[in-house]
Amino acid sequence: MKILIVGSGGREHAIAWKISKSPRVEKIYCAPGNAGIAGIAECVPIDAMEFEKLADFAQENAIDLTVIGMDAPLVGGIVDVFEARGLRVFGPRKNAAVIEGSKVFSKDLMKKYGIPTAAYETFVDADKAIRYLETASYPIAVKADGLALGKGALICETFEEAKEGVRTLMIDRQFGEAGDSIVIEEFLIGPEVSALCFCDGTTIRTMTSAQDHKRAKDGDQGLNTGGMGTFSPSLFYTGEVDEFCKKYVYQPTMDAMKKEGRDFVGVLFVGLILTPNGPKVLEYNARFGDPETQVVLPRMKNDIVDVFEACIDGRLGEIELQFEDNAAVCVILASDGYPEKYEKGFPIRGLERFEGKNDYFVFHAGSRFGKDGAIVTNGGRVLGVTAIGTDLKQARAKAYEATEWIDFDNKYMRNDIGRAIDEV
Ligand code: AMP
Ligand code: GLY
Repeated sequence: MKILIVGSGGREHAIAWKISKSPRVEKIYCAPGNAGIAGIAECVPIDAMEFEKLADFAQENAIDLTVIGMDAPLVGGIVDVFEARGLRVFGPRKNAAVIEGSKVFSKDLMKKYGIPTAAYETFVDADKAIRYLETASYPIAVKADGLALGKGALICETFEEAKEGVRTLMIDRQFGEAGDSIVIEEFLIGPEVSALCFCDGTTIRTMTSAQDHKRAKDGDQGLNTGGMGTFSPSLFYTGEVDEFCKKYVYQPTMDAMKKEGRDFVGVLFVGLILTPNGPKVLEYNARFGDPETQVVLPRMKNDIVDVFEACIDGRLGEIELQFEDNAAVCVILASDGYPEKYEKGFPIRGLERFEGKNDYFVFHAGSRFGKDGAIVTNGGRVLGVTAIGTDLKQARAKAYEATEWIDFDNKYMRNDIGRAIDEV
């Protein structure tokens, strides 16, 4: 088979690596890809938002399956464009990807179908939102309705902060139209778990659990980022939590989307918070998580191409997902300054140390080839260093050991990824 992956981050690198393990696959392309992905796939210089050009490429190159990694093309309707041309594609259609593309949609869906989530109100008018905030209790979460690179959720400690948040989103329009509507939500406390699930529109199957570290600095301080590191499995995701979520969250979400005429086919990422009153949904994403994918896929035993096809063909019920009985930890190496201002273009040294190892991985998030062909930094998140161990402690020690193999100017990482491992 010939497979095209759409995206350019660590998630797409991990997906490409996993696809490369399938004996069914002869050639992988990635658009636009990055310098690391170029080691296993042919990178194609087409932007992920150029749907027609991507579909032309798939047609001209007889691509058997296209896998969409990123959120923005999914929310923008890339799957509909491919399907209209009779091309086989893995990911939700536009009318289902809205579960990630609009927080107002997802909150209203959960309310309508009784799926546990934080209490909330939605607003399209800044003055009304601010009036509501005057009598609210704090902290409180103020969120942009639309996509905002993982930075559209503001946790506000005081009325002044929340008011400022409303201004940033609705009046200054920091995230453009994503802030035309906002959700104001009850603040919840508890460990967060990322549950990634394959879906065929009717059946939903969870992969192994993972935990992200969203804040930029040690001790969960600093700004929210796309994710600074992950580990899998999550220590908090017990059998009891899994049972609860299967019954009250995952299947009800699948059924709700079907009832709404929005069959969800693809990966549904359920962001859970485990509160003293039980698990609640913080958010849905319509795709694999990043960097969750970098710890989940290296532990997966199945041929992922079989699973993609079962989802597309509505046969997921026939597949049993299997994961190794081990653990994985991923530490993100970022450019100092991320998620705000940072410099790029610095040579990356030490990548060769990972070659030929099957328990250490370096997935590239933001890298490109420099003028002399050397690999240089090209983003806020640069690399994800993942290690597999027999347990989380061993995986963490190995991952941090491997972060030392890599060197680039302005290299920054959190030093406490997997901190929770010692707390349970
Ligand atoms: P979201 O984009 O909605 O997942 O929010 C990003 C992050 O903000 C989450 O992973 C949480 O850490 C935090 N967060 C969002 N909503 C809430 C909430 N209602 N209570 C507590 N923390 C929240
Ligand atoms: N790591 C969180 C996300 O992919 O949205």
